[in-house]
Amino acid sequence: MSLEPGTPSSKRKKVTTNSLRSMKAKGEHIAALTAYDHLMAGLIDKAGIDLILVGDSVATVVQGHDTTVPVTMEQMLYHAGLVSRAVERALVVGDLPFMSYQVNPDEALRNAGRMAKDAGVEAVKLEGGEVICPTVRRIVDAGIPVMGHLGLTPQSIHKFGTYQVRATADEEADQLKRDARSLQDAGVFAMVIEKVPAGLATEVADMLEVPIVGIGAGGGCDGQILVSHDMLGLYTKFNPRFVRRYAGIAETMLGAFGKFLEDVKARDFPSEDESY
Ligand code: KIV
Repeated sequence: MSLEPGTPSSKRKKVTTNSLRSMKAKGEHIAALTAYDHLMAGLIDKAGIDLILVGDSVATVVQGHDTTVPVTMEQMLYHAGLVSRAVERALVVGDLPFMSYQVNPDEALRNAGRMAKDAGVEAVKLEGGEVICPTVRRIVDAGIPVMGHLGLTPQSIHKFGTYQVRATADEEADQLKRDARSLQDAGVFAMVIEKVPAGLATEVADMLEVPIVGIGAGGGCDGQILVSHDMLGLYTKFNPRFVRRYAGIAETMLGAFGKFLEDVKARDFPSEDESY
């Protein structure tokens, strides 16, 4: 894939589920970020990022909730629509929110269909392993690509009780490997593995044909995903070790807001040039 940064996204080859698979085969790592709105999604796409996830992390970084549990299907559809309309090249994946796919495969398919048809995403992501495979199969059979999500699965936070590293014990690591294989067999085109030991994620990536996109899962995965608001230094409430800060946007914004306040109070804004 020709990936020269700075080339307008319209001139670059569209990313598909197939091209992600061939990137893995060629050893080219996949770069993925989250987006929840039109402006951010457009910039991420322009930068050449391969996959944009409309994550249910919108619940924490945008909506101000403590977990991803409360975000609704309607809200995810809204955000996914904003993102899809901005993106030309990247593959757009929409998270299915908590309880939109757990009840039964029919309901899951209906909601995945709304994501594809109403919000324009090209794939959906859902959390879980072996137990979710019949649902994955049903959605894939209907023609909607599915991305899996294993390891730390934030929608189950109240079951785990903690956001600590998952699968450090042999039993859980073995289950994760079984889950990963089952998801591949069920037809996922890729999967996210979140916050597990690097050795385990590497083992899974080496074992499977589908790409493993890691977050807090070390450098042996086939790609990496971060929450944009974290890597931009915009969401600063938590600072997990796996996040690399590429900018300090919150500080820049605070500085700008403070300067505006100062200028208005000092009657220094607007100037004559800024007036009619
Ligand atoms: O919702 C999200 O942002 C995610 C990423 C952490 C992979 O699922």
